[in-house]
Amino acid sequence: MSIIDPAIAVQRLPRHVAIVMDGNGRWAEARHRPRSFGHHEGVKAVRATVEACLRRHIPVLTLFAFSSENWKRPEDEVGTLMELFMKAIDREVDELVANGVAVRFIGDRSAFAPALRDRMDRAERKQPAQTRLSLNVAANYGGRWDIVQATRRIVQGIANGDIDADTVDESIVDAHTSLADLAPLDLFIRTGGEHRVSNFLLWQLAYAELWFSDVLWPDFDAATLDAALADYARRERRFGRTGQQLRHPA
Ligand code: IPE
Ligand code: IPE
Ligand code: MG
Repeated sequence: MSIIDPAIAVQRLPRHVAIVMDGNGRWAEARHRPRSFGHHEGVKAVRATVEACLRRHIPVLTLFAFSSENWKRPEDEVGTLMELFMKAIDREVDELVANGVAVRFIGDRSAFAPALRDRMDRAERKQPAQTRLSLNVAANYGGRWDIVQATRRIVQGIANGDIDADTVDESIVDAHTSLADLAPLDLFIRTGGEHRVSNFLLWQLAYAELWFSDVLWPDFDAATLDAALADYARRERRFGRTGQQLRHPA
């Protein structure tokens, strides 16, 4: 059952939701199954979440699938995750595009095998006729990496004369980050009970609302998303102003 109040006004819905999909391993371990089983089940939760965002007209969804630190995991787990990415892309992309989902991968893909990189490139080239949802999949992504790659591109721009060093400001840095052309991040969700960012969207988190849940990722569904959306809708985003100023604008 959905607990979202259908009366939540469109302007109270986030335009950009980002999710740290954590807890696959513990979900599987609790069932005495290998961690890979949890990752497989996690893909189903991804599908349900994308559908829920489409139905709720949330225009941007960014999912943390593999962090730049996740290479430290046992080789067989990393292998399972790479295989899952390949299969998920093969199986899902055409239907996603047909449903108006524009898929993009953010992160340093130079570390991936050529076959996976090729799939990522091909998936990104398949643009829907009309985009209903921008789906960003963060793979070998790190928030620090994003800031570094933005910095490198700015430095190159200065070196080749495209950017005047004196004009570099927050908007220029922002314009060089991975999600620059999309709506600013409104709502950050992390499942799995940990209260940390784990090097996800550091730059973009500056004024995002944070929402944490003990639900393990494979159990995440539309009702959990709705709980986050309902909480978000109740919050007062002050961006440094006072509540009084927001309620009685000059
Ligand atoms: C998140 O679940 C998925 C990835 C990091 C790829 P975990 O695999 O981190 O699950 P837990 O945190 O060990 O339960
Ligand atoms: C964050 O989860 C990365 C993803 C969900 C892809 P982790 O499980 O890797 O985070 P830590 O290690 O607990 O901080
Ligand atoms: Mg984890």
